[in-house]
Amino acid sequence: MEKKVLLAEDQPEFGAGFELALTMTPADVVYMVRDSGIKGRGGAGFPTGIKWNLAGAASSDVKYVVCNADEGEPGTFKDRILLEKYSERLIEGMAIGGYAIGSSHGIIYLRAEYPYLIPAIEEARKNMIGKGLLGKNIRGKGFDFDVEIRTGSGAYICGEETALIESLEGKSGFPRNKPPFPVNSGYLNKPTIVNNVETFCAVPHIILGGPEWYADLGIGECSGTKLFSISGDVEKPGVYELPLGAPLKDLLELAGAKDIQAVQVGGASGRTIPAADTYRSLSFGDLPPGGSVIVFDSTVNMLEVLENFMEFFVHESCGQCVPCREGTLHLRNAVEDLIAGDICNKESLNDYFKLAEVMRITSKCGLGQTAVNCFVDIINNFVDFTDERISGECCCERGDQ
Ligand SMILES: Cc1cc2nc3c(=O)[nH]c(=O)nc-3n(C[C@H](O)[C@H](O)[C@H](O)COP(=O)(O)O)c2cc1C
Ligand code: SF4
Repeated sequence: MEKKVLLAEDQPEFGAGFELALTMTPADVVYMVRDSGIKGRGGAGFPTGIKWNLAGAASSDVKYVVCNADEGEPGTFKDRILLEKYSERLIEGMAIGGYAIGSSHGIIYLRAEYPYLIPAIEEARKNMIGKGLLGKNIRGKGFDFDVEIRTGSGAYICGEETALIESLEGKSGFPRNKPPFPVNSGYLNKPTIVNNVETFCAVPHIILGGPEWYADLGIGECSGTKLFSISGDVEKPGVYELPLGAPLKDLLELAGAKDIQAVQVGGASGRTIPAADTYRSLSFGDLPPGGSVIVFDSTVNMLEVLENFMEFFVHESCGQCVPCREGTLHLRNAVEDLIAGDICNKESLNDYFKLAEVMRITSKCGLGQTAVNCFVDIINNFVDFTDERISGECCCERGDQ
């Protein structure tokens, strides 16, 4: 069942959450965010309150608030909707973040393909200035805050927070080693919080409704609501807001999915499950809910889907570390061989599963660690496609190798 908070028709006035936050101490704002139990909506699910607490405690007179609006995960377009309609809410959430950690500088890192959203964001900034909620000495509290927009250049890896920071600094988008984490040493080596658009947009609602109210919106252990962009073989593709922890089948029903063969939850780096598993929950403890849900009906060849996603990872790997740079190529080639009927027995796939495990453990960043998910899931969960393509005839005897 839908539960609209971020997308509700009837919303609190923009700025009201920030006004209320300004009546509290910065530490109390951090505690409210922590007690709400909200986990980052960018995919990794790190608790926002802990991140803000660490950045608030870091000693520096200059800190930064960065909004990750890179939205590069295939199939994800939920942040675009927030940026289009609720930019003021986003800036409000960033201002609350700035107040909470002691930062007066916000940066929105906008996806290269979203330049048409800049006027709406600029307009929202002007509205906030007009209300006296951005600028110097806001509401006489001695707190300054403003935001600027910076655009990416179209690389998926620049959504990874440390690659994003490198990009902001004018360098190539190569992920950094962690630690140090951005909360201690981020943009220009200063303490920085990087949060997703949806995370910032949720914060004013938490301040206004209270942490218990927000936590109770979720199901079971989950806190709050979550936006999902659903596409593929559905009658009503679009962005839906559900309680976090809802069963996947609820979302599929809302979007009018029929004749389901497979569902990919969390984009190319997420999990791909068969129709029989759609009872599972959209939660960080089960199917990690990045933002993208793609439905494939029974006419789709899942090996071709896999080939497409592996090609994406080969293209988007930054090439900095060997397991990901070489591993994505090997897995992509294995899928191509499989489709061509050039893999002679199932046992030879085991080497690729071992490689996938090595990539998961040893890749430097989340891209290489999760690029293996679609390979493992599609080969394991859709065995008919694999069986059909295993030649049974030894390639070595054919003299192919
Ligand atoms: C390859 C890769 C791409 C990512 N792309 C995005 C993105 O487009 N937007 C986003 O918010 N987080 C993205 N992330 C996650 C960020 O690194 C980071 O966890 C997130 O921005 C933190 O915000 P949150 O705590 O509010 O989720 C990506 C991670 C990886 C590894
Ligand atoms: S895992 Fe991939 S994307 Fe990440 S640093 Fe290594 S090569 Fe680059």
